[in-house]
Amino acid sequence: MVRPKIDSELADVPSAILATVRGVLGGSGRRVALHEPEFRGREWEYLKECLDSGWVSSGGSYVDRFERDLAAFTGSACAVATSNGTSALHICLLLARVKPGDEVLVPTLTFVATANAVSYVGAVPHFVDSEAISLGVDAAKLEAHLRDTAHIVDGVCVNQRTGAPIRALVVMHVFGHPADLDALADVARRWHLVLIEDAAESLGSVYHGRHTGNIGLLSALSFNGNKVVTTGGGGAVLTNDAAIGRHAKHLTTTARTSAGWGFVHDEVGYNYRLPNINAALGCAQLERLPSMLERKRALAARYDRAFADVDGVRFLREPPGTSSNYWLNTVVLDTAHAARRDDVLGILNDAGYMARPVWTLMHKLPMYRASPRMDLTLAEQLESRIVNLPSSASLGD
Ligand SMILES: Cc1ncc(COP(=O)(O)O)c(C=O)c1O
Repeated sequence: MVRPKIDSELADVPSAILATVRGVLGGSGRRVALHEPEFRGREWEYLKECLDSGWVSSGGSYVDRFERDLAAFTGSACAVATSNGTSALHICLLLARVKPGDEVLVPTLTFVATANAVSYVGAVPHFVDSEAISLGVDAAKLEAHLRDTAHIVDGVCVNQRTGAPIRALVVMHVFGHPADLDALADVARRWHLVLIEDAAESLGSVYHGRHTGNIGLLSALSFNGNKVVTTGGGGAVLTNDAAIGRHAKHLTTTARTSAGWGFVHDEVGYNYRLPNINAALGCAQLERLPSMLERKRALAARYDRAFADVDGVRFLREPPGTSSNYWLNTVVLDTAHAARRDDVLGILNDAGYMARPVWTLMHKLPMYRASPRMDLTLAEQLESRIVNLPSSASLGD
């Protein structure tokens, strides 16, 4: 791929970014999506089998197969398919024994589902800051914050300011880049916190040789239509604890204890099961995941090379020691150019390259404005500087 020449007339940052994106993606005249699904494998065949057999809903063999294939791909002992990533997160928090009134440490730089899942169990998200390498939770800053605000009482981390137990830490692998998991797991261990990974965006991303989602006690994946692998809508809970895995399956399938004709349920369960027809799509998608990852990484390498010469902006690389799925390719504007973010979004979208900003930070949303938080300076700076670029696997063909 020819690197675009950034000459003096392109010194304007939005124009330089557009020229660079055009150099990487070419100017086909057609609108380039941010992330579109790719169905080049046995999707039609498996879906047809569901329709022909009538097994489109809660029964059928594809769910079991999808769970086995997911466990094998991620190296997790258990994978439990769910209706979406949000329901998977809800189950993770229930199984982490987070109780009403507890606090759960959650990054403010995340999609709203991470914080909402905490609210679903009656707990309160306690927002934490991010670091600049991975955009994930800043372990050192979190440690300092806990030293400042928390203490351990009878083996439980307690927020001295609110008096509430801080039960868990949810980390998120932003745009697919693995967070600093070793350091975060250390913080969780020292402060008696259950570590949960929101791995919704990071299927195929590896941290020091281990697939993301394997370091926390529990983790959640998403197979929404915009993710690397899609089931239309869907998610999964991963865990390496067999008993927790069995409980996850039980809770997501209405907690039914009886086989055959009986309808007996032994706790409040949920209808979070992934339908067979969605799992069929997922099985076909997983077969092609290595190819999709290879092409997504090739595309990221092209962006990386092209942006190396562009002043005022940095291409977000996978953190050292990790292999990212590069779910969404990302550039971070220098602080001096933060005010131009909307110009960058405007010029790219006008030219047919779909680009988007990062989520509004959680602590700014009306329902979370009163939530406890640490100093969130870096996330606040990042919020106005992030631009996601077209990232579909097909762009790496
Ligand atoms: C970080 C994160 N968490 C959770 C979710 C929720 O997943 P779903 O849309 O499948 O409910 C998503 C994606 O949508 C996400 O990006």
